[in-house]
Amino acid sequence: MQIPAGSDARLPGAGGAEPPAGRLALRLLPGGDSERAAALAARLGLPGVDTGSDEAALWLQLGPEGLSLQVAGPGAPGAVRADLVGGRCGARRRQAGARRMPIARAAALARPAAPRILDATGGLLADALVLASLGASVWACERHPVIVELALDALRRAAEDAELRAWLPQRLRLLALDAREVLSAPARPDGAGFDAVYLDPMYPPRSGSAAGRKELAVLLRLTGPETDAAALLECALDSEARRVIVKRPARAAPLGGRPPDLVYRGRSTRFDVYLRQAPAGAVSASAAR
Ligand SMILES: C[S@@+](CC[C@H](N)C(=O)[O-])C[C@H]1O[C@@H](n2cnc3c(N)ncnc32)[C@H](O)[C@@H]1O
Repeated sequence: MQIPAGSDARLPGAGGAEPPAGRLALRLLPGGDSERAAALAARLGLPGVDTGSDEAALWLQLGPEGLSLQVAGPGAPGAVRADLVGGRCGARRRQAGARRMPIARAAALARPAAPRILDATGGLLADALVLASLGASVWACERHPVIVELALDALRRAAEDAELRAWLPQRLRLLALDAREVLSAPARPDGAGFDAVYLDPMYPPRSGSAAGRKELAVLLRLTGPETDAAALLECALDSEARRVIVKRPARAAPLGGRPPDLVYRGRSTRFDVYLRQAPAGAVSASAAR
């Protein structure tokens, strides 16, 4: 696993943008592992464990239950962590009829062969987990070093779960990289290309579940707004993948103003699908709704 090195406490913003104002500090919660915290601080280029700075705008917290991210100050939303075992992810994984979910239909997971999917915006890995739980082989890219740490922490806990450890390590792989580096490479390092590329760019958290909105709001405080999502879509469309899937808020315009070939609608989100070569008898956008 490659972890991009952070050189100081102000970590990079998204898409080459300036980092959001404010300082990220690491704190150890009661019962947290101090050696692990020191190693984490070194990897992220943070000065060390902070014992009580009031300048921090964001806290990366290590406690007995792992890593979480907390916005500082009164009225801030609760801490956010990646959790593949319980919570919303556990419920989504066990949901009956999962293959009929819009994300599964958009990724063509109803078909028998397990597709190879590049999740270009891995984040906290919730979508990558759903795709992997339905049989896809997923490579998830995440470029922000702190979000990589949150995702690695979730994978560490998932490896201790009796059900997940039986299949997750074979189906989900995390790459601490900008997805454009992977998309511009001619093929996967193991020689195989991707069948599909999945994109879930950040957007202002106006839609989605309350928990989803909180997660997005906290991640946006860390990364700042993404300015290069449309360019990432173009990069995905230039790759050899036959299918590119973009998750959007239900009422948002298509990413980069590019009309999709197919649309699968959920309650608060939709999945726009771009086909590299429309197969004979492709469903029209309106018929797929
Ligand atoms: C909305 S979040 C994705 C959430 C994810 N689908 C989930 O289920 O947890 C978007 C994430 O994509 C990452 N990201 C955006 N552009 C990227 C790129 N070009 N390469 C890798 N990661 C990227 C951001 O840092 C952020 O963590």
